[in-house]
Amino acid sequence: MGYSHENEAKANFNDVYTAPTPHAYIAKMARHNYQIGEQARPYCIAAAELLRKNNGEIWPVQMLDVGCSYGIGSAFVRYGCSFEEIIGFFASRAPEDYASCCEVTRMWLNVTSPICNIRSVGLDNSGPAIKFALGSGLLDGGIARDFENPEVMPTEDEQGWIRSCNLLVSTGAIGYVTEKTLNKILPYFGKDHPSDFGPLAVITILRIFDSEPIIDCFKRFGFDFQRVEGIRLPQRDFVDEVERVKVLEILREKGLDASEFEEAGTHYADLYVAAPAEQIDILINEMRSVREQFPPQKIAQPVPR
Ligand SMILES: C[S@@+](CC[C@H](N)C(=O)[O-])C[C@H]1O[C@@H](n2cnc3c(N)ncnc32)[C@H](O)[C@@H]1O
Repeated sequence: MGYSHENEAKANFNDVYTAPTPHAYIAKMARHNYQIGEQARPYCIAAAELLRKNNGEIWPVQMLDVGCSYGIGSAFVRYGCSFEEIIGFFASRAPEDYASCCEVTRMWLNVTSPICNIRSVGLDNSGPAIKFALGSGLLDGGIARDFENPEVMPTEDEQGWIRSCNLLVSTGAIGYVTEKTLNKILPYFGKDHPSDFGPLAVITILRIFDSEPIIDCFKRFGFDFQRVEGIRLPQRDFVDEVERVKVLEILREKGLDASEFEEAGTHYADLYVAAPAEQIDILINEMRSVREQFPPQKIAQPVPR
């Protein structure tokens, strides 16, 4: 039950999730070559475009980013920022004072039009991260709650936000977030505007985590949920030898071959998608065609000052 064994092996970044501005979070992620958000970006954009193509103006795309931190997923998908640009912005131009940081980030985002016309809602248990994401305009709606806690249930307003979303994305968050959170989201997800197409989900899950409870949860709520074969994405480098040894041990216990992946020093995640059963093949084919356009490549990141 749960992912406590796997989380014990994984380095803990909790100290940078709750500052008023993203500076420490971005700097720490950059130091460890964190790249899953950017690696997943073309797949999330393709799913958004698929929804738009099929629903037109009837059901505009509204993304629910689960474990959204400071709204960085929205910066990737909606504004087309690269992580390199984000690192550079927070290392040199964004003031550390909360109000000024929100204002300067808002101006920075508004310089160019969004590349993907979506509205963004984020869920994270970090109140400060959600506050910044809303204050800077990265998110239109924010849910600062810990649905892993059995006593916490979505309020009516939160249910409303979840109902209005037709694209669920999550990168780098499964492990912190489990089926307990999804059990509280999925009863509402996409229920506002039932149409012929969607809702859809695009989720990355680290290979050390068991995906079965997530698959079962989506199935319970009427979705088909599948790993997209052949799409394995680097998440971040191991912080040290201790993490490397523990992670490789877990992969061995699970019978997974790490020789072409984690053994070189990087966490890997697989790409999973969810859709109503009759649409899952369309979504999987779309993900495969993205893979052909964006074959795996190392994303180089500058080390922040
Ligand atoms: C590694 S970060 C990933 C952030 C972002 N999705 C990305 O890929 O850049 C993990 C996020 O999960 C959030 N988190 C941890 N526990 C959570 C919970 N119980 N519910 C929602 N979010 C949680 C953390 O606050 C943090 O923002």
